This record gives sequence, C-alpha cells and structure tokens, in this order.
Amino acid sequence: MSALKVAVLANLKKNAPTWPGMPEDYWADLDAEHTVAAMISALQEGGHQATFLEGDTSLYERLQKSPPDICFNICEGHFGDSREAQVPAILEMLRIPYTGSKVLTLALTLDKPMTKRVLAFHALPTPAFQVLERADEPLDDGLDFPLFVKPSRQGTGMGISPQSIVHDETQMRAQVSRLLEKYQEPILVEHFVAGREITVGVVGNLAPPVARRVPEDETAPRVQRGLRFLPPLEIDLGAYAEEEGGIYTHRAKVELADKLTYICPAPLDADLAAELNWLTAATFRVTGCLDVARVDFRLDAADGDRPYILEINPLPGLAPGISDLVIEAQADGVDHAELVNMILEQALARYELL
Ligand SMILES: Nc1ncnc2c1ncn2[C@@H]1O[C@H](COP(=O)(O)OP(=O)(O)OP(=O)(O)O)[C@@H](O)[C@H]1O
Ligand SMILES: [Mg+2]
Repeated sequence: MSALKVAVLANLKKNAPTWPGMPEDYWADLDAEHTVAAMISALQEGGHQATFLEGDTSLYERLQKSPPDICFNICEGHFGDSREAQVPAILEMLRIPYTGSKVLTLALTLDKPMTKRVLAFHALPTPAFQVLERADEPLDDGLDFPLFVKPSRQGTGMGISPQSIVHDETQMRAQVSRLLEKYQEPILVEHFVAGREITVGVVGNLAPPVARRVPEDETAPRVQRGLRFLPPLEIDLGAYAEEEGGIYTHRAKVELADKLTYICPAPLDADLAAELNWLTAATFRVTGCLDVARVDFRLDAADGDRPYILEINPLPGLAPGISDLVIEAQADGVDHAELVNMILEQALARYELL
C-alpha cells in the first residue's frame, strides 16, 4: 500500500473551551495529547503520513484547503446532543473518507435511552428503564429498587458515583435532581444489575449482506462473520467496593484507572463468552457500527450471570496502556500501534483504498 495522508481528528482536553463555573469533569471524555501522539506514531509506523487536526469550528476550512486521503476520527465533540456526529457530518459534506461509525450511529449511541429502545426492539437484553425529565415524574410500575441513575448522554463515567445506586424513592429523586441540575439533560433510571463488569471490544465489519436486524428464529445462524472479537475484559471493582459501590464510577475510570485490576481474558465459561460475543455483534449490527466498538455488560449475579447490555461505545478510548480496548488488544498480542492500524485498515477496505 502506498503512503497515505492520514489526519487524526480529535478533541484534546487542553484545547477545549472553559468558562467560569464549568463542572470539573466537563471534558473528561476528551483526549490527552499523548494519546494522539501515540496514534500519529502508530500511523507513521504503518507507513503513512500522519498529522493531527483539532475537531473544532475551524476544521471544515482546514480540511477543504488541504484534504487528507482519510481521517482517523476520534472526536467526541464539544457541544450539542449529537456532538459525536458533527465531525462525521462535515467529512461527508466534504466527501472525505473516515474511520469508524457514521453520523446516525454516533448520534444514536451517544443517547443511551434511544440506544436501549433500539436494543429492546430487537429483543436484546438491556436493563428495564425509564427516562425522567423532571425529578417528580411518577415512576413506571415494574421498576423495582434498587435502581441505577445516570445521565442519558455522557461517557467516561460522568455523573456515575456510588450515589447512582438508589434504594428508595427519596434517594432516587435526590439523585435525579442532582444530575438534572449538573448535566441539563434527561436522566436515565434503570434496573440495577448487581454482578460482574465485563466489556467486549471488536474490530472489523460484518461481512455483507447485512440487514440491521437480528434473526427472529433463535436457531438461525448468528451473523458475526467479519468481526474480530478481542478477549473479554473484566474490571475487578472489588478492591473499591466500599468507596465506589462496586461500580465503574467516574473516579474509578479517571483517578483509579491505573490501580484497578483488569482481568483479560475474563474467566468466563465458553458458552457465556460466546454469548457475549454474539450480543456484541448483534449490538454492533443493530446500531450500524463500523470498524470498531466496545460493548459494556453487567452479568446479573442473582440470575446465573445473565448478561445485560449497558451501552455500546463506537468511539472507544485509545489511550495507550489505559483504555479498555487497548488492554484487550494487548491480551490478544496486538499492541497499540497495531490496533490503530487495524482500525484504519478496516476503513480503507470499506472505501476500497487498500
Ligand atoms: N444498570 C446498571 N446496573 C449496574 N451498574 C450499572 C448500570 N448502569 C451503569 N452501571 C455502572 O456504571 C458504569 C458506567 O456506566 P455506563 O457504561 O453506562 O457509562 P459511561 O460513562 O458511558 O461509560 P463509558 O466510559 O464506557 O463511556 C458501568 O460500567 C457500571 O459499573
Ligand atoms: Mg460504559
């Protein structure tokens, strides 16, 4: 393959706008400089010319002036309900190829309730839920305590703390009020799944033809050809059960990230591991993901480790040595540079640029 001009598009924490009174975790989702630097050297190792462009309002003009052959997009966006979809939208206007999922998928999956509706439509297991836009909205019948309260459209554990687990109406209303106030977006209240925490990363694309539905017939062959499943990662939250409530909180993801125990491959029996891969493929498929994604699960300890899909991340973190996807790849003998080039190759194949 001849050397391509690859532009890494990211939103760096250090370039993000700030204002007085901004919550300290507001830009927790954005990337560190060393992540982008590692991606650039990975792409250079892959034989390409790689540069970085900040995914801000100047991006359109800069790309138009000097279009790369392809963009490696990891922009989380700054503002708006569909912020992750904004950069892909301008890339499509400019007709520039890019890695990863497209506009509809990124807008959908940033919205957890909307994603859960799509999963539920396809009978994929996700905790029962309700969305509250006011703290005093009546709770649906069938949602029994303990429940879990989180923002609808955040990542990196933002808004997730031990107070997310609520045991009664008073705790639930108080937590919904706090999150409404802080994030100014609808709040998701869902069945609390007590059990193990597993995440499954995947690189690839489903071999065509691919309908965005799951076969209704349970005995039909499971469509997952074309996807490379990385070994499942278990996050052992036991050491912080007291402080963090046994959940993958914002503090666990940021402050404690290098202190947690990551078990990869997670010790799972073969049937359960195959089931998680299938649920990952099905979620990837019904949400229309491309090239890469990571699906987060909880296994219900009270129901024989039954898996529940919490969410799908089509822009999984790529921080060397830290991000879940990177740890999973390592466990499969794929280092950071290879992982980055694997994702790029998936996109190049889709655009017939290989
Ligand atoms: N319904 C639930 N039951 C039990 N724990 C939950 C539930 N929903 C979320 N959690 C806990 O909160 C963590 C973060 O939730 P979730 O993955 O939805 O948020 P996130 O901030 O988008 O994460 P990411 O960093 O993957 O973007 C989960 O990993 C899990 O530990
Ligand atoms: Mg998650």
